[in-house]
Amino acid sequence: MNIILLGPPGAGKGTLSSKILKEKNAVQIATGDIFRYNISNKTELGMKAKSFMDRGDLVPDELTIDLVWDTFDKLDKEENTIVLFDGFPRNMKQAKALDCGMEERNTEISKVVYFNVDSQILIDRITGRRVCPDCGETYHIKNHKPEKEGICDRCGGKLIQRNDDNYETVKNRINIYNEQTSPLIDYYKEAGKLITIDGAKTPEEVFNEFNNKLGE
Ligand code: AP5
Repeated sequence: MNIILLGPPGAGKGTLSSKILKEKNAVQIATGDIFRYNISNKTELGMKAKSFMDRGDLVPDELTIDLVWDTFDKLDKEENTIVLFDGFPRNMKQAKALDCGMEERNTEISKVVYFNVDSQILIDRITGRRVCPDCGETYHIKNHKPEKEGICDRCGGKLIQRNDDNYETVKNRINIYNEQTSPLIDYYKEAGKLITIDGAKTPEEVFNEFNNKLGE
C-alpha cells in the first residue's frame, strides 16, 4: 500500500509518519530527511540541496525524483507493507513522475492523506519545533516538550532547531506550498484518492482519524 502524506510545512506529516512507523508494518520515504542526512554528511547531493533548503525553496525536480526511485527500489518491503511518501510529491511534475514510475513497477498510489491546517498554526508549530539530529524525533517548545529540556527522550541526543525553521524561511515555504503543492489536492481528489484530515487536532486524534478514514 503506497500512501502520500500531503500538507503544508508544519502540518504534522512527520509526526503522523513516526506514529505509523511505530505501530504498523510501514516504511517511509521522507525527502526532507534524506536531504538533511546528505547535508550533514557533506555528500554531493547534500551540497547541491543545501542552498535551496536554507532559503525554503524546492530542491530541483531532477535531483528529487531520481532520489525517490532510488530509495523506493531499495526499501525492504513485503506485499502488505505500507510505504509512506512524506514530503513527495510537491508539484505537478513530481506527481506525474510518481504516477509513471508506479505504473512501471505495476503498483499505484492507494491513498493521499491531506492535512488541513490554518497557516497561523503552522508558523507557531514550525518556529517552536526542536528535532533530534541523532534519531529524528520531533518536539515542540510548548506542546510537546521533552522530559529533560533540550534532550531527546528517545536517544539522549541534543535537540536542535532546523536551519529552515525561522520565521522568514517558513513564510517562503508556505508560499511555495500554496503556489506549487496545493494544486495536488484537486489532482488527487479527481483521482478519487484523497482523504482529508483535520491537522489542527492533537497528534493522537490525527492518528485515530487516519486509522478510521483509511479503513473506510
Ligand atoms: P520537509 O522536511 O519535507 O519539510 P516540510 O514539508 O516543510 O514539513 P515539515 O517537516 O516542516 O512539517 P511536518 O508536516 O512534517 O510537521 P511535523 O510533524 O514535523 O522539507 C524541507 C525542505 O526540503 C523543503 O523546504 C525543500 O527545500 C526540501 N524538499 C523536501 N522534499 C522535497 C521535494 N519533494 N521536492 C523538492 N524539495 C523538497 O510538526 C511540526 C511541529 O508541530 C513539531 O514541533 C510537532 O511536534 C508539532 N505538531 C505536529 N503535529 C501536531 C499536532 N497535531 N498538534 C500540535 N502540535 C503538532
